[in-house]
Formats: sequence, C-alpha cells, structure tokens
Amino acid sequence: PALTAYTTNVILTAASLCLLIPELSNPSVCMKDPQRVQDILHSMVKAGSNTLQVISDFDMTLTRFSHNGKRCPTCHNILDNSKVISADCKQQLDHLLHTYYPIEIDSSRSVEEKLPLMVEWWTKAHDLLVEQKIRKDLLAEAVSESEVMLREGFQLFFDHLHEHSIPLLIFSAGIGDILEEVIRQAGVFHSNVNVFSNYMDFDESGVLRAFKGELIHIYNKREGALLNTGHFQELRTRPNVLLMGDSLGDLSMADGVQDMENILKIGFLNDKVEERKRSYLDSYDIVLIKDETLEVPNAVLMHLTGNK
Ligand code: C5P
Ligand code: MG
Repeated sequence: PALTAYTTNVILTAASLCLLIPELSNPSVCMKDPQRVQDILHSMVKAGSNTLQVISDFDMTLTRFSHNGKRCPTCHNILDNSKVISADCKQQLDHLLHTYYPIEIDSSRSVEEKLPLMVEWWTKAHDLLVEQKIRKDLLAEAVSESEVMLREGFQLFFDHLHEHSIPLLIFSAGIGDILEEVIRQAGVFHSNVNVFSNYMDFDESGVLRAFKGELIHIYNKREGALLNTGHFQELRTRPNVLLMGDSLGDLSMADGVQDMENILKIGFLNDKVEERKRSYLDSYDIVLIKDETLEVPNAVLMHLTGNK
C-alpha cells in the first residue's frame, strides 16, 4: 500500500536521526516522534554542553535489570540478600517484594491507587531494616558481595560527564548509602555527581536507628525535586536536561529545574514490556526495550558534547 505523506516523513526523520546517532537504529530503540527527538537534540547541541545537566534514576536505570536471565538487585535488595539481616527478616522483606513489586509495575492500576501502597512498601521495609540494627561498617561488604551490576558502558558514561564537567544528579528512591557505595566501588563517584536519595541515620556507635528526612518513593520524586531548590538554583545556567529513568515516576525528577529550555527523556522499559510500551512511548522520547546497556545514552551524550 502507498505510504501516507505522514508515514514517509516519520521514516525519513528516523533515517536522518540514525545518520546523526547510529545507535538510535539499535533494535532496542523505540521512538514515538523521531522528529521531536531530532528537534530537541538540535536545540541542545546549539546551546552547547555547558548548558547541559543530566538527571538519572539509579535502580534499573544505571544498574542492570538482569544478567544471564537472573534479576539483578536494587539498593534495597542488596541489603535484603546480605548477611547484615537475619533469615527471618529476609523472609519478610522477600514477602514485601513479592507483594508490592507486581503492584509497582501493574499498568492496570492508576498512580493514585498505587501511591499509598508504595508508601506502605517503603515504610514497612525501612522499619524492618531499622529493627535489624545494621552496622554502617558492614555496608561496603554487603555491596561488594552482592550481584549488583552497573549497566555496560557505565565507565564511559560517568567519566565522560566528569571530563566535560556536566553535573550528574542521581535521584533515587533506593538507599543513598548503598548507592554511593556501588558507584564508589566501581570507581566512578566523581566530583560532578550529586545524589538525592533515602539516607540512613546511624547512632554514635554506627548502628542504624532511622532513615533521614522525607521518604523518597517511586511516586514522589516531584516533591523531592522541589525540596532541593538550592541544587537547581546552583545549576540555573544549565537549562537543558537529559533525563534517564525506568519508571513513569522518574519523569518528574526534573520538576525542580529552573527555567528549563529543553528536556530529552530516555526510558528503560525492562519488565512487562507489552502492557507498558504504549504509556512509555507516550512519555519518554526514547524508549529502550530490554536493553541492558548505556550504549544509547552514551551515544546521545557524545553527540551533545561534540565527541564521536
Ligand atoms: O533508584 P530507584 O528510584 O529506581 O529505586 C526504587 C526501586 O527500588 C523501585 O523500582 C523498587 O522496585 C525498588 N524497591 C525495592 N525494595 C523496597 C523498595 C523499593 O527493591 N523495599
Ligand atoms: Mg528505577
């Protein structure tokens, strides 16, 4: 059948985008509107990389979702599976995971319906962790013994942003102390990295007694962003944002950015692909389906910083 002018145009735009960034023709890449992606990239290149900031989620965005068919751990799971908690507590945390994770990724429920349940999950899990009287000095070992993996290409991602003095905000509903340890052990906790997350509060003998500040869960990143006005104020000369996430809740991570000019959103769709593909395509500019690498974000960054 004859192609409509619209379809022909979409195909031509996608083709010219792939000439600019060949990785965008990878089989994992889906875009609803390649023209929009091209326009945003064009504006961002024109503005220069000194106007760019990167805001990324952590679990299942910077870290792998699975490896050799096996699920990789989130920050919370690193503790769930470690020696710092008892067998009984592990069982309870696993039970929470099996109860609430299916709700987190259930596309048939609205955010309004899920939100109180997510608060319940995080609150119950944090209460259980506090009961375990976890020692701060055992966290590094819990991380090094875990199966956590940053996505392939992480070294280039972190090093390139650092070399170009582009600020990277890691905005995570995971656990800040664990997340920092993961990137420290990987040798990429550079000076351009800032973290917003849930941090542990230890007593004077180094034992976990609570979590600090307001809870960050999967659906309140907007509130978290708006609480941190100081950070975004410092970055006000960088109105162009590259946002990376794996949940629809991650889309609000940039809500605190001042006078934003352009935002390019890259979303990893790791699980329940068919059910969620439509909503991801509607909200993320570039959707990466079951892609365990940072190849595409890295290629976009190279393009934005003029490196090939
Ligand atoms: O870094 P990010 O914001 O992605 O961290 C949130 C993730 O942590 C959620 O996707 C959720 O599945 C996971 N989580 C968990 N155990 C908990 C709470 C959250 O694995 N107790
Ligand atoms: Mg995530």
